[in-house]
Amino acid sequence: MKKKLLHIDSSPRKERSHSRSLSLLFREKWLDNFPEFDLMYRDLYVTPPPHVDENWIAAAFTPPTKRTIHHTQALEISDHLVDQFFEADYYLLGVPMYNFGMPSILKAYIDNIIRVNRTFLFTPEDKEAPYKPLVKGKKMFVVVATGDHGYQKGEILEPMNHLEPHLRTAFGFIGVEDIRFIYSGNDEFGGERLEKSIQQAIHKMEDEVCSFV
Ligand SMILES: Cc1cc2nc3c(=O)[nH]c(=O)nc-3n(C[C@H](O)[C@H](O)[C@H](O)COP(=O)(O)O)c2cc1C
Repeated sequence: MKKKLLHIDSSPRKERSHSRSLSLLFREKWLDNFPEFDLMYRDLYVTPPPHVDENWIAAAFTPPTKRTIHHTQALEISDHLVDQFFEADYYLLGVPMYNFGMPSILKAYIDNIIRVNRTFLFTPEDKEAPYKPLVKGKKMFVVVATGDHGYQKGEILEPMNHLEPHLRTAFGFIGVEDIRFIYSGNDEFGGERLEKSIQQAIHKMEDEVCSFV
């Protein structure tokens, strides 16, 4: 069976989006190098995941055999998103930094796929490890676009980067631990600084793809 790459875009911008253009470039490089992969694509602005609501929460914490038709309906999109998440072997996310974190549409997606008894188990009797991830052996690449620069490890704005730690924690919680970040910055400055940053991101993407060959 062919492996699958799930590519998810989360910028509301289209042609002007760096996270979209760079994640698309990454995807093309990946598929050129690994023709054994099939692509699954999700544009969160074309099919926005709903925010979780009271009915969703009640449904998610009710055992499947006890769910009402309303519960089942409330989880329909979430179930589909979780199924797709499991179907993929590798993930590629295009993400704009918004207010030092992720855009709310990506948070809505994450709230839909971090599900008890689907992507993690809650076993309170196990005091050492009450939460058990159910996603195994997957890898993720995250292409981040920022307006400023210097958010990477050891750089001046690293303490303000709540995006990378949040994504690492949330996806790590369900079992995706191998996550590689690629940054492009300086959108707010434009000109040479932006161009240099884009070129650096492209080099980093090439390195990441080559490291798998
Ligand atoms: C609502 C909003 C919030 C933003 N917050 C930040 C921020 O916290 N830090 C930053 O460096 N840039 C910030 N930016 C700039 C974007 O990260 C930058 O424009 C980036 O290129 C957006 O990704 P995109 O090109 O894929 O659309 C913000 C932009 C918007 C519209």
